[in-house]
Amino acid sequence: EKGGFASFMDKEIHDQPQAVGDTLLGRTDLEGRLVLDDLRIDESVLRTVDKIVVIACGTAAYAGHVAKYAIEHWCRIPVEVELAHEFRYRDPVVNEKTLVVAITQSGETMDTLMAVRHAREQGAKVISIVNTHGSTIPRESDAVLYTHAGPEIAVASTKAFLSQITAAYLLGLYLAQLRGNMFPDEIAKIYDELREMPGKIQEVIDRGTRVREIARWMADTSSVLFLGRHVGFPVAMEGALKLKELAYIHAEGFAAGELKHGPIALIEPGQAVFVIVPSPRGRHSLHSKVISNIQEIRARGARTLVLAEDGDEAVLPYADEVFWVPQAPTLLAPLLTVVPLQIFACELATARGLDVDQPRNLAKSVTVE
Ligand code: F6R
Repeated sequence: EKGGFASFMDKEIHDQPQAVGDTLLGRTDLEGRLVLDDLRIDESVLRTVDKIVVIACGTAAYAGHVAKYAIEHWCRIPVEVELAHEFRYRDPVVNEKTLVVAITQSGETMDTLMAVRHAREQGAKVISIVNTHGSTIPRESDAVLYTHAGPEIAVASTKAFLSQITAAYLLGLYLAQLRGNMFPDEIAKIYDELREMPGKIQEVIDRGTRVREIARWMADTSSVLFLGRHVGFPVAMEGALKLKELAYIHAEGFAAGELKHGPIALIEPGQAVFVIVPSPRGRHSLHSKVISNIQEIRARGARTLVLAEDGDEAVLPYADEVFWVPQAPTLLAPLLTVVPLQIFACELATARGLDVDQPRNLAKSVTVE
């Protein structure tokens, strides 16, 4: 059932265009409103929500971190993202006006389930974003938005991550519509841009040869750093997590702006650093700031592996290697930039002779606290 791929993970990376496409499919009713699969929350309650708390673990939490940027921008509701196991034990400020969004592939993660129960006891409404039908967390939630990624077999999450971001974005657009934060045509435009993403993800996968080559050359590396900013920050964290999990290599993701506050001390000659460069077409001046970061670490001998948008020639003078991704709106770029990092981790672990589908010490579904 690996469909000719060397591993389930490799197959699931290739499934991603379809996973995102399917998650977008059939989501709107005749009035163009998002359809939640199982909605037991009054729309009037969703209109009065004054805070969103995303709870999740691991990769699902990084999907939440990406979604925070989009939901705050679109809905003007404060969004907190918290690891479910921390949320549960910290006496969080949660009440009837809090919307909790639980993100989970398996729907069975015990830490996330306990956090969902805790939130509901405090009167919060819970919407879960879940991949596995018939699992526990959707049953215990007030509403469900299923990601249609299909079964994810490899322990390391790939297609579920992209589908979680997609579903959380749909939720953000739905809330923006319901609460009147955006005009219908603005929402329709973003929805159309989302629908262009599967083709672009496919393009990134098709361009994977070079990143595979580099991964094999780097099979003996002992440490890799990942830098990103804005939505690229959680992508950096996710890239590092994939490498730790699969290749057992020390890896760390940082916010690029944090570099001068400490992590730059780690840079020594030969240190490999992935840098996720924001689009030069974005509204912010972040592009040039991240280019300066690349310059700074390169000057200290880092080997810079740069992810940049097609046509962004400003990266060329400072990049030892560039992995190009198609142009996309800033908020949608994570659906593209994470893919070379998944391929990198999968290929590097394979080159080290490791079982990428079953990394040591890990289980697909963590059903104990
Ligand atoms: C990473 C990974 C884990 C899971 C986490 C949450 O590749 O797979 O970090 O994302 O254990 O699992 P779910 O989404 O099933 O709640």
